[in-house]
Amino acid sequence: MKRYVMASGITLLLVLGMTATLPNYGDDRMSNFYNVISQDGADPWVYKHTDGTYYYIKTTGNNVTLRRSTTLSGIEVGQSKVLWKPEGQTSSFGNIWAPEIHYLDQRWYVYFAATSADKDHRMYVLENSAEDPFSGEWLFKGQITDSTDKWAIDGTVLEVNERRYFIWSGWEGDVNVRQNLYVAEMSNPWTIQSERVEISRPQHAWETNHTPHVNEGPQVVVKNDTINLVYSASGSWTNDYSLGLMTAKISDDLLDPESWVKQDRPVFRSANGLYGPGHHSFTRSPDDSEDWLIYHTAKWQGAGWARLVRAQPYEWNEDDTPSLGKPVHPDEPIPIPSGEKPRQRYEAEAASLSQGMEVVNDAGASNGKKVVLSGKGEQFIYFDVYVEQDGAYALFSRFKNGNSSKRTLMISIHINEKDQYLQAADYSSYATWIITGTVVDLKKGKNKVVIKQTSGKDIELDFIELLPF
Ligand code: AHR
Repeated sequence: MKRYVMASGITLLLVLGMTATLPNYGDDRMSNFYNVISQDGADPWVYKHTDGTYYYIKTTGNNVTLRRSTTLSGIEVGQSKVLWKPEGQTSSFGNIWAPEIHYLDQRWYVYFAATSADKDHRMYVLENSAEDPFSGEWLFKGQITDSTDKWAIDGTVLEVNERRYFIWSGWEGDVNVRQNLYVAEMSNPWTIQSERVEISRPQHAWETNHTPHVNEGPQVVVKNDTINLVYSASGSWTNDYSLGLMTAKISDDLLDPESWVKQDRPVFRSANGLYGPGHHSFTRSPDDSEDWLIYHTAKWQGAGWARLVRAQPYEWNEDDTPSLGKPVHPDEPIPIPSGEKPRQRYEAEAASLSQGMEVVNDAGASNGKKVVLSGKGEQFIYFDVYVEQDGAYALFSRFKNGNSSKRTLMISIHINEKDQYLQAADYSSYATWIITGTVVDLKKGKNKVVIKQTSGKDIELDFIELLPF
């Protein structure tokens, strides 16, 4: 079966690989992976369902697209489906921001922010009663708001002591003076039954270093009797975007602002050459033994809303608050989430290269070497890839795309001289690595994987990796 992905950017002429005697070389089963999780995206929300399936949603701007995967590190290449897009009564909706999927009272709910013909951003709710959120029907339940009906984004749900709360970022009035955090009690998954209570406003220097001042992206994780509300502050369009922490006890009255205690310093901020980490979510490893943070950063220093998604584990402090550490350096491999199968990594410098390609040292590359695709004529890299059984595999490429016009380039992949795939390689600059993934079909035993880049240049390949699907 041939699979073609519509090419965007540079469409390459696909030439079937030539026959060649290729060295047999084994794979390196790696118990680590490199960020990024998604080479493009923001406000990543990951929900690990009771059956272990990961559901993943991020801001697309124009719809609600759900992905699902059995692995955390491979969520971007999971099965995906557009659950909802503006149409009919919602045809004027736009700027769809930061959707979250929750499973409440045995039904699926998606919360998202959107503008409409008669209102700027407000929060809305979708519902699906099917057991499988990829099936059934997603119904638009309308706006979720308190009686003030003010600007609102980034709503999330907290369940404590059999009571359910909605926490969101909003304006006090009708003008964007600042974004505060509000909480209110819910009577059902689509209805707020209490007046909103302001529990936070930007106050510390690191929250008020850009205007308008911002507290947003509230996410909650409970440890023993401590409710940790980790939120994003400073400007999401700046390198200063950071995470802050407020805490309350599960025995507190959560509608009393005095119950919430804000730390005066950020708990997660730019570091290791990464900028603007924020609007995160919390999840756990497949075997539930580890806690993981999924967050976005600017694609490069000063990239503003050009953002991508990263993941890393985190620990806990003695006082049951999360110890998030710093964004892991992009050149540092991270142990795979506990319970995930090892990846099979094939280094580009160990593959068979066509003429005109060169192996170059790069301290940030796995094994310290990469292959530079110079773009002179037809360029291809042959890999012999061995898998233990037929099936679908996520094939990841770690690359740099430094083309001067910041175009997305396409990497063409040929499997056993019959299946062809195109991988979109977003611009990354030469300063940092990007990872993109594609689901490919492989047969048991040896598979010939050929990567081609026959026009344009500016791509440097570190390795390809396989993750069983
Ligand atoms: O990505 C869109 C918006 O950007 C999110 O809703 C908010 O958290 C951030 O400012």
